[in-house]
Amino acid sequence: MKINVKAPAKINLSLDALYKRKDNYHELEMVMTTIDLADRLQLVLLEKDCIKLDVKAHFIPDDKRNLVYQAAALLKERFQIKQGVAISLDKSIPVAAGLAGGSSDAAAALKGLNQLWDLNLSLEELADLGAELGSDIPFCLYGGTALATGRGEIIEPLPMMPNCWIVLAKPSISVSTPGVYRDLKVSEVTHPNTKGMVQAIQEGSFEGICDNIGNVLETVTLVKHPEVKRIKEKMLEFGADTALMSGSGPTVFALVKQYSRAKRVYNGLRGFCEEVYLVRPWQEQR
Ligand code: C5P
Repeated sequence: MKINVKAPAKINLSLDALYKRKDNYHELEMVMTTIDLADRLQLVLLEKDCIKLDVKAHFIPDDKRNLVYQAAALLKERFQIKQGVAISLDKSIPVAAGLAGGSSDAAAALKGLNQLWDLNLSLEELADLGAELGSDIPFCLYGGTALATGRGEIIEPLPMMPNCWIVLAKPSISVSTPGVYRDLKVSEVTHPNTKGMVQAIQEGSFEGICDNIGNVLETVTLVKHPEVKRIKEKMLEFGADTALMSGSGPTVFALVKQYSRAKRVYNGLRGFCEEVYLVRPWQEQR
């Protein structure tokens, strides 16, 4: 038996941190949406009790350090699975980019293995398991557009993102997510209007989304890495309706209503940045 699963990237339309919790995580309010840029996983059932992972990309571990491996190991251990799996992972999402690539791969593995190993787990049960491995995995399991609260694991689905063009640009620097959260000064930042963003999504208002976009982690990453700030400024100069850093960065995305302008932003950015993508919101229904 063989199963193919797609693992789409996400962007944060808003990311607010309210306070630092006793468990050292931050209490968050995020509006996230999946985009049409996806990794692909193929899962093949093995009768032998083992997990094999083959990653078609350089510099990505294919062992216990990979969240896909951890997802398979967690299911195996929790449900005493005696069968095995061979997973091949084809990467398209930039790595360590603020696009939840690793989390989405793990979510896709959980979904695929639920079928392959005949576990009959609900989406909620998969999300609870996913949350043990990483805060963004529950959102990736739901996909679409959603409000994520708590440490990111409490998901309230929202209507689909209105159609538009999304230009992504990832500078070739790496950013450490724990490092960004460590340097964040929650009491000093301007908090985005999450309620306004949720309302804009509910009304299907592209303009409302642009008005309420915001990410408190920009206060850390844009200061530490001025090239991220420059990319954001360039996107706006080239005609983006809005631009924001995703997650803890360093990827910046622009939302653009008109294709001709999106193309201008895309072409303009390619002069500054090696990794630039022009995509749309993810259109598949849940
Ligand atoms: O949950 P995950 O392993 O993806 O989180 C990575 C890191 O991001 C955490 O170790 C923590 O430093 C930071 N984080 C946080 N608050 C959250 C989520 C993540 O401080 N709600």
